[in-house]
Amino acid sequence: MIKIAFFSATKTDKRLYCREEYKQAENIDFTFFDVQLSDKTINLTQGFNGVCVFVNDNLSKPVLKQLKDIGISLISLRCAGFNNVDLKQSQALGMTLLRVPAYSPMAVAEHAVALMLTLNRKTHKAYNRVREGNFTIEGLLGFDIHQKTIGIIGTGRIGLALVKIMQGFGAHILAVDPNPNKQAIQHGAKYVELDELYEKSDIISLHAPLLTPTMHMINKDSIDKMKQGVMLINTSRGALIKAEDLIGALKARKIGYLGLDVYEQEESLFFKDHSEEILDDDIFERLLTFPNVLITSHQAFYTREALNNIIETTLQNIIGFHQNKINPKNIIT
Ligand code: NAI
Repeated sequence: MIKIAFFSATKTDKRLYCREEYKQAENIDFTFFDVQLSDKTINLTQGFNGVCVFVNDNLSKPVLKQLKDIGISLISLRCAGFNNVDLKQSQALGMTLLRVPAYSPMAVAEHAVALMLTLNRKTHKAYNRVREGNFTIEGLLGFDIHQKTIGIIGTGRIGLALVKIMQGFGAHILAVDPNPNKQAIQHGAKYVELDELYEKSDIISLHAPLLTPTMHMINKDSIDKMKQGVMLINTSRGALIKAEDLIGALKARKIGYLGLDVYEQEESLFFKDHSEEILDDDIFERLLTFPNVLITSHQAFYTREALNNIIETTLQNIIGFHQNKINPKNIIT
């Protein structure tokens, strides 16, 4: 029996991960905890063999050390990004780190497009107006995406999926990636320097991972290089953007539209109901006051297809660890 402490569990997780066939045939026993894994909740892992975690669980150096001391050797991430893990420490401690590298790049790319279209065509406002019997269209003016220039930063799995969608819109596609993708070029993307992408793009969408060089890559200096009224979309990781620099850019009308599915300080906000509380994050609260800002709560991955793939791979990862047959593609090194 492999005993897994499952953190940041939602109602859906509790329902979907308890598949009898796995429980019986593969001897996986999940215990679900609603809370995030952190130094405050680490004692919950006593008696388990592994932890199963998500994007906002804390796997910093001290947390990993304590996990190791408790006897945890498996960390199974139910996501692709692993910026929340101190890799040097997990390697030094000889822990096994598994993830789901790809589950549905289309899900995230399509959500980026949902943000673009909502911000542009203001369907969220139109929905409310019509329900209240207000059929005016004043204030709902949008623009054609056709023939506009979209800048895609990071053309891996998700960025490539977006390139393909944007080709369908008839947009001009500029791309930046240290590893240019042949398929992206075949689908109309032109690789340029970052400054050219900033200067020429009407819409900029971020799909690079959060690494030391990409941390806060969107800041006052880079925003200054962008077109007046640019649309900025981030469905990758919050800390790609220095959030406080967005306020001035929105006030100056430099950023004309802002769509965020991720936010640097999201771990204390997202995936929870704070509707009865006063939020302490002044930057986030200020962002919410702008009519041209749309924020979703890290839901870009959340489609039926993606969720099924995540569950399947996560279960296979845990079984693989138990049976010493791990798929090498899923190991984080
Ligand atoms: P991927 O690894 O397939 O592609 C990332 C690409 O970014 C690579 O081609 C890489 O060369 C490129 N890159 C690295 N450094 C760069 C830089 N400085 N500038 C431009 N490009 C750079 O990753 P994938 O699957 O496309 O995912 C991208 C990111 O999306 C993940 O790192 C994750 O943080 C985020 N994500 C967000 C989700 C959500 O629900 N909002 C769900 C899944 C992933």
